[in-house]
Amino acid sequence: MTATPPTEHNLRLYIETVGCQMNMLDSELVVGALGKQGYTLTDDAKQADTILLNTCSVREHAEHKIYSQLGRLKHIHRQRPNVVVGVMGCMAQKDQKQIFRRAPHVDLVVGTGQLAEIPRLIEEARHDRKRKLAVSLGRRDGSVQAVSTSFQSYDPLREPQMRPSPWQAFVRIMIGCDKFCTYCVVPTTRGPEQSRPPSDIAREIEVLTDQGVREVTLLGQTVNSYKHTEGGRLFRLADLLELIHDSPGIDRIKFVTNYPRDMGDDLLTAMRDLPKIAHYLHVPLQSGCDDVLKAMKRGYTVAQYREMMHRIRDCMPDCAVSSDFIVGHPGETEEAFERSMDAVREFRFKNNFVFKYSPRPGTKAHELLPDDVSEQDKRRRNNAMLDLSNEICEEDNAEFIGRNVEVLVEGLSKATIKSADPKPPGSAPADSPTGPLQLVGRTRCDRIVVFDGNPRLAGNLAQITIDDATATTLIGRIVTRELQHESPGLLPILG
Ligand code: 5AD
Ligand code: SF4
Repeated sequence: MTATPPTEHNLRLYIETVGCQMNMLDSELVVGALGKQGYTLTDDAKQADTILLNTCSVREHAEHKIYSQLGRLKHIHRQRPNVVVGVMGCMAQKDQKQIFRRAPHVDLVVGTGQLAEIPRLIEEARHDRKRKLAVSLGRRDGSVQAVSTSFQSYDPLREPQMRPSPWQAFVRIMIGCDKFCTYCVVPTTRGPEQSRPPSDIAREIEVLTDQGVREVTLLGQTVNSYKHTEGGRLFRLADLLELIHDSPGIDRIKFVTNYPRDMGDDLLTAMRDLPKIAHYLHVPLQSGCDDVLKAMKRGYTVAQYREMMHRIRDCMPDCAVSSDFIVGHPGETEEAFERSMDAVREFRFKNNFVFKYSPRPGTKAHELLPDDVSEQDKRRRNNAMLDLSNEICEEDNAEFIGRNVEVLVEGLSKATIKSADPKPPGSAPADSPTGPLQLVGRTRCDRIVVFDGNPRLAGNLAQITIDDATATTLIGRIVTRELQHESPGLLPILG
């Protein structure tokens, strides 16, 4: 990345992030780079010198929200003409100049592949007040090599303040997607699939562990399609996991999102054998009807997905699996929707993200398939599937009552933060408050657990006995020292 010498100090940055974990990570990297230029974060857009919106294009609704927010920012721009307003991420890559037309007060439009340019572009825009557009090539605008290069891989400058908690960090292992599911805009907004060299990933994890990170989540649109040849050796995800597993300081490794067809036995065996890998897989099924899967060009049938689920459960009986579903996809009849409901019943996902189909310009589905399910039917199917998923999750979580689980403690629970403010999730206050507070952590299978404890436990593993459960949360208490004495094999409780 081109280094821009810091020309101004005490600049304030306001950044809003919507969308997936990839976007959260992109924001972290941009904030890290701007921090080097003397920027500090503010949570008040009115006070900011630079306002950035990191955007998502997966569904139309997310884009509407950004355009409304841009509408509101117009007044700030009028009052403080020096402020620089930028739109970054997927919408920037997709809509490009259109954003300037719809929101003329926007100064920068920077796509997902050009984020390293942001510090320089902000400086230039502030001085010459000219609009800056930095986007990558479209998928048909050049050779695969040229398009891939235009989605430059971003040299990571990490910023701990932007992480989910001080103990957790996202690490990108690939960018882009080549699957071209007919409904999906991601292959356009994120460009061709490219895997990062394993040695770069290992180095980044070393930096993160030096900063106190204990849990890394490896990110890729189809993370289990990872492959990179380095030093004459082909690394797949299983090999990469083995490489980073013994990084000192790391307690847990997760990875999202998986593509069903690429779920190799080598990966499942690595998950079974490497104790720090979470027993959790997010593998979107999207629909339980073969005709709809075919229209989506997902590349598998329900029977093939079922076979994959059997392999997962044969290898790791305790492995939790979660899924995404799209309801109201073109051609989804009531009958087809019922097949999706059957799949939810059969596979008993740990959680289920349900989305109403949203036609996206530039996709094959938008071009070729009529959006033929009414909004009312989409909403009804969405709610029915969420109700069914909740019922199943509640039943499965209830199975944990009376059991001991190991959790990686993330910090104060949302409820504690809401009642006490001002610390972000994961904070371990320097001065320990009086008495235990409600903390939150996750099991190896990614189940959320709340329990009372000393906030200093954050970032450590703890043993918890589960007393109660809801559809989303297990409720428990720390295993007491006496209990540990009786149960050899349990880890000591810190703090
Ligand atoms: N409409 C609705 N949902 C979509 N998703 C992706 N594209 C669309 C779309 N056009 C959902 C898929 C994907 C998740 C991240 O978003 O379920 O897995
Ligand atoms: Fe989109 Fe399909 Fe790629 Fe996932 S695998 S990002 S749904 S195109």
